[in-house]
Amino acid sequence: MFSDMKPEEITGEFKEISLDLYQSITRKILYTELETAYPEGKLIVSTTSIDGIITYVNQSFIDMSGFSEEELIGSPHSILRHPDMPVAAFKDLWDTIQRGEKWQGYVKNLRKDGGYYWVKASIIPKIRAGKIVGFTSVRRKPSRTKVNECIALYSTMNA
Ligand SMILES: Cc1cc2nc3c(=O)[nH]c(=O)nc-3n(C[C@H](O)[C@H](O)[C@H](O)COP(=O)(O)O)c2cc1C
Repeated sequence: MFSDMKPEEITGEFKEISLDLYQSITRKILYTELETAYPEGKLIVSTTSIDGIITYVNQSFIDMSGFSEEELIGSPHSILRHPDMPVAAFKDLWDTIQRGEKWQGYVKNLRKDGGYYWVKASIIPKIRAGKIVGFTSVRRKPSRTKVNECIALYSTMNA
């Protein structure tokens, strides 16, 4: 599920970094500076189990991430984790949704081909009989102004 990224799957010139995911697994990430623009009018949707394992993706998710449905279902959501995203952003995300609250934020996601795309994400806990049983995430096109603010903020947080 967490195989290293392979140079032959990357489009364009790339940099290499190792990321510690899931608190324990180290994954070799190959990433480029090529942005894929968020398509107008589309929603990118996924659902996960309580521990963040992907259980459903819609077609826009598949198209934007570059992974197949088979590669995504059963993988941890951190398959999209980009090295520019601060650890603290994901801590805030998990702290919020585990309290049963909705989280909103701007996320830079890694594509299978090493490129990236920005999203405005909402994550909503699915609660049944008072217990959290999973999460649903819906992403929309972010404004450029907000993306530029996040680029600056996240680079400060990572410094
Ligand atoms: C419903 C849901 C959707 C998520 N969507 C993303 C996403 O699009 N990109 C991402 O990097 N992490 C996403 N996450 C957070 C990941 O589970 C993970 O915390 C993050 O990628 C950082 O990896 P790590 O927790 O292994 O350090 C999502 C989590 C949930 C529960």
